[in-house]
Amino acid sequence: MMRISAKMAAFFRVSTLSVMALAVFLCSVSADPDLLQDVCVADLASGVRVNGFPCKATFNATDFSSNILAKPGATNNSMGSRVTGANVMKIPGLNTLSISLSRIDYAPGGLNPPHTHPRATEVVFVLEGELDVGFITTADVLISKSIQKGEIFVFPRGLVHFQKNNGKEPAAVVAAFNSQLPGTQSIAATLFAASPPVPDNVLTKAFQVGTKEVNKIKTRLAPKK
Ligand SMILES: *[C@@H]1O[C@H](CO)[C@@H](O)[C@H](O)[C@H]1NC(C)=O
Ligand SMILES: *[C@@H]1O[C@H](CO)[C@@H](O)[C@H](O)[C@H]1NC(C)=O
Repeated sequence: MMRISAKMAAFFRVSTLSVMALAVFLCSVSADPDLLQDVCVADLASGVRVNGFPCKATFNATDFSSNILAKPGATNNSMGSRVTGANVMKIPGLNTLSISLSRIDYAPGGLNPPHTHPRATEVVFVLEGELDVGFITTADVLISKSIQKGEIFVFPRGLVHFQKNNGKEPAAVVAAFNSQLPGTQSIAATLFAASPPVPDNVLTKAFQVGTKEVNKIKTRLAPKK
């Protein structure tokens, strides 16, 4: 018995080490990459494709500045919400810096529908109004809360999340991301408005409904021409 326990202890020591090594490896490749220079202002017009954007030879303060989040975005759309991104596509100076912001505006009743950011954790700060927010863990547990002006909520990287304005007044948040370009996959649009379309027989089986229901959703979510 003693010998087996010693062997098992050794096995667990090795396993723990492997898990730690794997964790360190995953950490080192999972965030935006480390900086190799002071700045690398994105040359958005370059045809060169790298992980991010190549650096412009000359730059000035304009590349590090924007007033894009100053005004509320228009929320007169079918979701009643608008995300305005202040990421590397708008602020070239953010290239390689692993950070960006958005502003999200919500009409009364407005929804920022369930979505994920493959490259970033998100922290929202409520500027105005109140929101019912939540994320869903990989164990399918909903973590949700009502938040008000002045409050913060965190959406861990990659997890499906949403915000809904159930109040009577417009609401707005500033959102921070640990990526220069967090990316967004909006679950309903990803599945029902992809181009070319996801086959009906994938969606009918996944959602356990008929082709009629699938096509109804596809029609509703089709990009407006
Ligand atoms: C930065 O350079 C651009 C041209 O590349 C110029 O239009 C702009 O006025 C400059 N901004 C500042 C703050 O110097
Ligand atoms: C939303 O409102 C703006 C300004 O009031 C208007 O220009 C735009 O056409 C509206 N969009 C839709 C989809 O109704």
